[in-house]
Amino acid sequence: MYRIIFDTDPGHDDILSIMTALAHNSELEPLSFVTVAGNQTLDKVTKNILKVEDYLEINIPVYKGLNRPLVKEPQPQPAAHGESGMDGPILPEPQRKVEELSGVDYYRKVLSGNEKVTIVALAPLTNLGYVLKEDPSLADNIEQIVLMGGALNGGNINKYAEFNIWHDPEAAKIVFDSGIKVVMAPLEVCYAGGILIKETVRFRHGGKASKLVNDLFDFYCRYAIDRGWDKTAVFDLIPVLYLLKPEVFVAEQGKVDVILDGEDTQGQTVFTKGEGNHIVLIDANREECMKIFFEAIDTLDKRLG
Ligand code: BDR
Ligand code: CA
Repeated sequence: MYRIIFDTDPGHDDILSIMTALAHNSELEPLSFVTVAGNQTLDKVTKNILKVEDYLEINIPVYKGLNRPLVKEPQPQPAAHGESGMDGPILPEPQRKVEELSGVDYYRKVLSGNEKVTIVALAPLTNLGYVLKEDPSLADNIEQIVLMGGALNGGNINKYAEFNIWHDPEAAKIVFDSGIKVVMAPLEVCYAGGILIKETVRFRHGGKASKLVNDLFDFYCRYAIDRGWDKTAVFDLIPVLYLLKPEVFVAEQGKVDVILDGEDTQGQTVFTKGEGNHIVLIDANREECMKIFFEAIDTLDKRLG
């Protein structure tokens, strides 16, 4: 059983990842959600997770993390996720509230405890970078960080970088250099493990969970459809799929270095195979990935009646 903290900026794919984890509550135990500025402003992404908690009838503490990267200015991406950061589903204003403790104080507290946690990071690494910079000993209580971020061949935000790393490269560097075991799901494995546009049709006819997935894909898939692609990556889903079934992935061990500057290279992740505490996922069995995802949403449909 993995005890998990989600560090997240929901985000369509963040929610799809979280839903998949929720379906597997005998293998994964989500302790909390810590939000961070990324896809959209901190306030917007925090509101999104609260709305989804209400909709899915779950009650997991939400902590508000940092509202800006360590050095750079925040740079929301409305083209990818809309003005709300999660355009598509029309959900009521949240009833749930965030915890009083800040995300940073929560990390300080939970990482000073006795039990180790796995962090599933689906967003810029600002929160972790901040707390580890301030107190590197907090790393001792992190079993591993499984993150969506980075790229091996080409970026999605500049020539070489992936958005999550690019948004806060200083924080990412602190995390990768911390000595913690990091499993990185870069763009390439997300493309390999993506969903066919035609497969998304299955969510039109399911239950309550399927309806949310359908509404998320309605907006999320537009980017791929407008470009004539038959498939889209569901980026943040990959770390959860890896925790559930690592054998579905091809992984390599080594060391990842984060580049801090340069117009084309800021946020680039340079992977050197060999010795090191980093595992990089380089390929995925797409059918197996989708099987886990589809079954998870079916499970939630049944659970929500
Ligand atoms: C990453 O950036 C965000 O838009 C997604 O949620 C994902 O975490 C992909 O580059
Ligand atoms: Ca995300």
